[in-house]
Formats: sequence, structure tokens, C-alpha cells
Amino acid sequence: MKQATAAAPGKIILFGEHAVVYGQPALAAPLGDLTAQAAVTESEAGSKLSIQADDLGLSLSLAEASSEGLSLAARLALDHCQCPEPDARIRVSSSIPVASGLGSGAATSAALIKALSAYLGCRLEPDQLSALVYEVEKLYHGTPSGIDNTVVCYEQPVFFIRGSEPVTFHIAQPFALVIGDTGIKTPTHVTVGAVRERWLKAPDELEEVFEEIGEITRQARQAIESGDVETLGPLMGKNQAHLQTLGVSSPELDTLIEAALSVGALGAKLSGGGGGGIMIALVTSGTSERVGQALDRAGAARVLRATISEG
Ligand code: PMV
Repeated sequence: MKQATAAAPGKIILFGEHAVVYGQPALAAPLGDLTAQAAVTESEAGSKLSIQADDLGLSLSLAEASSEGLSLAARLALDHCQCPEPDARIRVSSSIPVASGLGSGAATSAALIKALSAYLGCRLEPDQLSALVYEVEKLYHGTPSGIDNTVVCYEQPVFFIRGSEPVTFHIAQPFALVIGDTGIKTPTHVTVGAVRERWLKAPDELEEVFEEIGEITRQARQAIESGDVETLGPLMGKNQAHLQTLGVSSPELDTLIEAALSVGALGAKLSGGGGGGIMIALVTSGTSERVGQALDRAGAARVLRATISEG
């Protein structure tokens, strides 16, 4: 039986979220331990294409639900490969928590498009895959900067500037993060929209904040490239203070951040769209356990761990 499989990693934004929408750089990295997978298998003649995503409680044929992200992803793959709808079944699964700022949407789209194009015998380069996933991201987020699809499709740490070719950066010394999930699902377009409203009212003030975040992001890249992990902690704190000014942190995020810092995390900040979603804490092997426990006690819905490295 004809079949093809593919996987794509989740992602974490390290620095620069929100400012990246306004042209400043952001740093993000793939999460190798959290992945989405897709498997395409041949089905009986005349059955056409169906998509099943048990984690999302989703089962549909391509003919229905054209506004749904996964079916859009499948259509984009068919168009790109210039192939008619095959008689096949796509199964999508993922270990990435949904709507938490970990790139689950982009990763499931990327895995599906990769698997389906491989099934059709059509080769996709990372930039082509990324452009297709971006189209699906627009459905979820409205005006995404493109950082999620870029990291997930290139599967490399990325210094990302909207509209420019993605640049990968060197991680001289791997570093460990503890990720705390508030359990509050805030769609990215909500906080992005709120920042836009503030920007429309006070453009000069917000531009200044975005520029400062951009400068912090550049310094963070330098620190990561030279293996100066200790410098990252204070930079995370500065970035978080600016995110608070933008109004995208929340009491729940602030509580988790304070809890991590109070037991010795080197730095902590929200990651992704904010509002709810996740925060990250920079830890050493000596503080990782303690920080995880502190996040649990402070009410985190979930605690995850990640090592950021070149892979
Ligand atoms: O919520 P996430 O992880 O998809 O990240 C959003 C990042 C923003 O900078 C807030 C928006 C964007 O499109 O870059």
C-alpha cells in the first residue's frame, strides 16, 4: 500500500514577540521533543481525500469544511503539486499543546503538507513549505509575522525579521528552559489586535518600545552566539518589562514569572502572544527541578522542559 509520513517540530519564541510584527527582529527555536506527525495512506478507489486528527477531535473529507486549517493545508499541497485529489487518508497527531504559543498550528500544517506532497512524489524546499504554511497561519491569526511557519519549516533557530530571508543563528552553548503554561488560551490575534489599538493611539511611544525590544533581541542573539547564557537572564527581564508596557502580560503570567524568579531562575518572560499562554524560565541543571515545582505550586496548568540547541 502506498504511504508517506512526515513530522514537524513545535517552536518557542525566545525574544522579540509583538515587536516582530512591527519590523523588529525576534529569536525563536524549534522544539525537537514536541512534534506534529502526519501519515498519508492509500484508501479505496473513489473514496477521495479524508483527514483525521484525533487530538483535535476532527474527522473530515476534503470536500467539506474548506475553512478549516487542515483542509486548507491539504488543498494548498495539492495545488502546489498540481495533483488531483487522491484516494487517501491523512492522519494527523501531535504532542504539542494546542493554542499555547508552541506552534502547534504551524507544525500540524507543515507535517500534513510535507506528508501529502511526499505521497504525491512532489519535492518541497523549506521556503516553499514555509510559504504554504504561512497561508494557513493567516487563517488562524489574521496578520502573522511569519515567525512560526519559518521556524517550524526550516527546523532551525531563527533570527527573524518580517519580510527578510530568515537567518539562522549559532547556539554556542545549549541552554535549558522550563515552560509554564497558564492554561488560559488566548488567540494570538486578540493580543496582536490590542497592541495595534495602542499603537494607533500612541504610535511614537509604542515605536520606542518596539525599538528597545529589537535592541534586546540583538543583544540576546550575541549572547547566545558567544555562549554567554548568564547575560540572557537579565535580557529576558528587560524584554518582559516592555511586554508588560504593551499590555500583553497578565496576572497569571506575572505570577508564574515571579514564582520562577523567586527560586533562582536566571530570567523569565512570557513567550508568544501573551494574555494567557505560556512563560519561559531560563534554568541551570541545579535550578530546573525547583523552578518546575514552583510553577506547579503557583498554579501552572502544565510544566514542560526544553533544551535549546542547534539540534
Ligand atoms: O502566539 P504565538 O506563539 O503564535 O506567537 C505570536 C507572536 C507574535 O509576535 C505576537 C505575533 C506574530 O505574528 O509574530
